[in-house]
Amino acid sequence: MARANGKVILLGEHAVVYGVPAIAAGIERGVEAHAERAALATLVVGERSASVGDGSDLAGAFEALLGALSASPVAVRATLEIPPGSGLGASAALGVAIARSVLSALGEAAELPRVLAAAAAWEGVYHGNPSGVDAAAAADDGCILFQKGEGSERIALGCDLALAVGIAGPPSSTKLMVEGVARLHERRPAIVDKALEGVRALVNNAKLCLEAGDVPGLGSLMNYNQMLLSGLFVSTEGIERCCALAREAGALGAKLTGAGGGG
Ligand code: PMV
Repeated sequence: MARANGKVILLGEHAVVYGVPAIAAGIERGVEAHAERAALATLVVGERSASVGDGSDLAGAFEALLGALSASPVAVRATLEIPPGSGLGASAALGVAIARSVLSALGEAAELPRVLAAAAAWEGVYHGNPSGVDAAAAADDGCILFQKGEGSERIALGCDLALAVGIAGPPSSTKLMVEGVARLHERRPAIVDKALEGVRALVNNAKLCLEAGDVPGLGSLMNYNQMLLSGLFVSTEGIERCCALAREAGALGAKLTGAGGGG
């Protein structure tokens, strides 16, 4: 049996795909996976099941993950504790938990680089161009600063953070949202690049706020990040309503987390 965390991105989603650092934190709810050696490689996730070679997306992702681990056949059952398509990193948490459970069933060490490579192969099938932030957060229990191609470092928090997560709905596709920002970047490179540089400055300052325990400072930076995300057209009316409700109820900052477009 193995587990992986869901995650929230505190600042920097989408910009992280373009090499800007992002800050993410693992959350307790995530994925639990059980694996055992078997004659045929099979995967059950909640109500869905797949066998290697059946042509489904789920089987394709599982095949890619097993290939990255050079694993012999295993039967895996995984349970999701977070809603998929909601920005909480369900897909990456599945990849990390399944990879860990497979390695454990085969009696091999679940070393981080191997687990992350397997999760990247898994996510690649669904996502196309993942930055890797979700998998890095799913494999870590703390708050991390992540940069594409560079990996992550732990941020030592100056105080505890209380986060409230709202589901604005409907579920959304990270792949489509990332493609939408890429199209905007192609059409309006100057405007998008300016937003990306803005996010970089917010993330750098947010790291300092986290280390110093300056929660009101962090809250304002999250609000600014939400404005820049709206400018990239990844926010929705539902998300804006959720943010307004949170601020009215006393939240120091509120923003979407993950790909946006709902969730
Ligand atoms: O899949 P989500 O909703 O957790 O979003 C992932 C974060 C993005 O920056 C939008 C994509 C990525 O690969 O970093």
